[in-house]
Amino acid sequence: MASTCKCTMVAFFILISWATHALSRTLHETSSMSERHEVWMAHHGRIYMDAMEKEVRFKIFKDNVQQIETFNNAGEKSYKLSINEFADLKNEEFIASRNGFRPSQMKATKETSFMYENVTLAPVSMDWRKKGAVTPIKDQGQCGCCWAFSAVAAMEGITQLSTGRLLSLSEQELVDCDIKGVDQGCGGGLMDDAFLFIQHNHGLTTDVNYPYEGTDGTCNPKKSSIHAAQINGHEDVPANSEKALLKAVTNQPVSVAIDAGGFAFQFYSSGVFTGECGTDLNHGVTAVGYGTADDGTNYWLVKNSWGTGWGEDGYIRMQRDVEAKEGLCGIAMQASYPTV
Ligand SMILES: *[C@@H]1O[C@H](CO)[C@@H](O)[C@H](O)[C@H]1NC(C)=O
Repeated sequence: MASTCKCTMVAFFILISWATHALSRTLHETSSMSERHEVWMAHHGRIYMDAMEKEVRFKIFKDNVQQIETFNNAGEKSYKLSINEFADLKNEEFIASRNGFRPSQMKATKETSFMYENVTLAPVSMDWRKKGAVTPIKDQGQCGCCWAFSAVAAMEGITQLSTGRLLSLSEQELVDCDIKGVDQGCGGGLMDDAFLFIQHNHGLTTDVNYPYEGTDGTCNPKKSSIHAAQINGHEDVPANSEKALLKAVTNQPVSVAIDAGGFAFQFYSSGVFTGECGTDLNHGVTAVGYGTADDGTNYWLVKNSWGTGWGEDGYIRMQRDVEAKEGLCGIAMQASYPTV
């Protein structure tokens, strides 16, 4: 009897302390979320116009944080998400301001030659950063000119491979000057058209000479005429073949278009990304290598232009050799590279 009673008492106290704990946790979570928002704002230098905007942004922040934590706690995927600088943006806003790839309508019918078609030997892994062919991660900011960053990274790669010199080249020159065709600066564009512009312009200048502003500007013909690097054309990787893409990436960094519009992509932080994503191409990035993760998953090493706070210091590893011929997020659909 005595021992039963003791047991009941213990159970009772456990119940009470659990209930108290749960209540305080709920209170704590509510207040800590706005604290977390404050800390996050300070960390990212975010300032809102007024209390109303702050209220709206806080709600979005809270939703995103909860979704990110639910995702990470579930632990069902091979990658993690994090509360990065995009945490107060709705997914639609994020897509509108950070991407900017305009898919080519002609691609399906057009066929260019493919100089790497007979490549048979590919090393098991490749990382063009280790070969000195990749400049540090850049940040396009709130300008939809991913296409310029993608094309420039591929051009920086082939320039280093052909001249031995790694130069940071100018995205702003493309944003300001490559405006006669499809490419519309911060309004979006296409890597192939950027390569065409560079070819016709007889080169591209350096980032130092024509620095990035992150807004549409007027072309400075004087700066644009100081060429630091040249290309003589570009080729498309045969569409919908990761095998063909591998042949190209084995030889040089390659511009690729992907569907980066999903929630998971917005908040990707580490690991091998396996989706969810579609094939609605909306973002231009650069494949700068490939490899196999510890768990055996093959991946593409992809350089993004959203700063070093996103992903693995600005990079993402995306699952390679998937069932769909388009590749994960459509990575094999519209790949291309400059030639020298
Ligand atoms: C690949 O090999 C075939 C057959 O030998 C040849 O006709 C073709 O020109 C080669 N392609 C390239 C890009 O060298």
